[in-house]
Amino acid sequence: MGKLFICDHPMIQHKLTFIRDKNTNTKDFRELIDEVATFMAYEITRDLPLQTVKVETPVAVTDAKIVSGRMIGLVPILRAGLGMVDGILKMIPSAKVGHIGLARDHETLKPKEYYINLPTDAQERLLIVVDPMLATGGSAIAAIQSLKERGCEHIKLMCVIAAPEGVKAVQEAHPDVDIYIAALDQCLNEKGYIVPGLGDAGDRIFGTN
Ligand code: PRP
Ligand code: URA
Repeated sequence: MGKLFICDHPMIQHKLTFIRDKNTNTKDFRELIDEVATFMAYEITRDLPLQTVKVETPVAVTDAKIVSGRMIGLVPILRAGLGMVDGILKMIPSAKVGHIGLARDHETLKPKEYYINLPTDAQERLLIVVDPMLATGGSAIAAIQSLKERGCEHIKLMCVIAAPEGVKAVQEAHPDVDIYIAALDQCLNEKGYIVPGLGDAGDRIFGTN
């Protein structure tokens, strides 16, 4: 079973309150999502392996650590996942970025893939699938499935807000994938929105509705 990590750092929780607030405007919403993504990037990279190298300071030669192991790839789910990419890249500037376009049919709530483009070496990378919302889990499950069908095996999922239904569905469909979220909310409503959630993440990031 994939592990669930709730990133409960006080600064993340503080910013999340303003992200949820319906009176937060598009500019502020976008900036806050970006900032939370940066903080969450710290948490999701916490278990990266280190290797020891020699470094020469102005005073002495010493052993020091650098990150080693797999290179990282980010895979935002379009559209809303795009809002988290720059924030994560501030922490992991060498990450390559692929894209998966999925849209939920508002009647069936099922995701349809309309675009995919991955780094050529995606199979060798640790891929972080990025989306602010994990609602039914359908989009995340489909995105991860799409990556696996292309030979990618090392995958984590980062979302800002999740519903219990979505977490359970991803854990059942992809038990090898760890999930990182900032908040686990109460439930889904009859329209598949997370309660209390933040509304439609894509619309709030891009100012559409
Ligand atoms: C939203 C959100 C997720 C998905 C979550 O995207 O950004 O991708 O819904 O719902 P699920 O867990 O039930 O699949 P949406 O389909 O509204 O597209 P958008 O990002 O283009 O607005
Ligand atoms: N997608 C969103 O953008 N918000 C939700 O609450 C659920 C799915």
